[in-house]
Amino acid sequence: MTASEISPRDRLIVALDLPNVEAADAMVARLGDSATFYKIGYQLAFAGGLPLVRQLAEQGKKVFIDLKLHDIGHTVKRGVESIAKSGATFLTVHAYPQTMKAAAEAREGTDLKILAVTVLTSYDDDDLHAAGYRLGVSDLVAARAQQAQVLGIDGLVCSAEESSALREIVGHRMRLVTPGIRPAGSGAGDQKRVMTPARAIAAGSDYLVVGRPILEAADPKAAAEAIQAEIAPALVA
Ligand code: C5P
Repeated sequence: MTASEISPRDRLIVALDLPNVEAADAMVARLGDSATFYKIGYQLAFAGGLPLVRQLAEQGKKVFIDLKLHDIGHTVKRGVESIAKSGATFLTVHAYPQTMKAAAEAREGTDLKILAVTVLTSYDDDDLHAAGYRLGVSDLVAARAQQAQVLGIDGLVCSAEESSALREIVGHRMRLVTPGIRPAGSGAGDQKRVMTPARAIAAGSDYLVVGRPILEAADPKAAAEAIQAEIAPALVA
């Protein structure tokens, strides 16, 4: 699928960052048709949320499993094979060559797409040096994006600020998936680099991951619809 074939509706991914399955079920019911794509991360996955992947897929929804896998290649491969059977659409792995190679091989012939996390956005140059890296953030992000492309990874998780630079590096085949989205007027929370939905799409992001601006809204469905309404015009702008 090329970027232009992704329906505007499917470009909003709602992060189900909720403490239990009951809260997640209630949010999915409240959002109804306003959301077609959900992300399940550590909090919900480890609170019994993994069976939701199949349930949501059976309701025609898409699911992004954000577990950022990283282990020896054999273990990554077996994990990805299991996840590919769950009906998930996206899975994150850390952008280490062995991990990406194993994940890309294991998802061959399935509908699962692998997204690589280049450098966690909570890391700056000092954090990388403290962890023993020679490169700073921007050089390491660029190097890992190139490796991801060569290894056949389907997309990258990146901030909207990185989207246009990463497009230059990886071209248009890879999907760019962007958290840190804040509709105009909503609080940033702990996100430091935020962008509105329209600006993130204009910067080259294919998918927007949004949690608290929807989950904590007085009317989550209206909040999701307002974001959807910003996405479609930005695609043609
Ligand atoms: O609530 P908020 O909209 O900030 O949620 C963003 C989601 O994207 C969270 O699930 C968070 O874990 C995830 N995420 C992020 N920054 C990254 C990678 C993932 O905020 N670099």
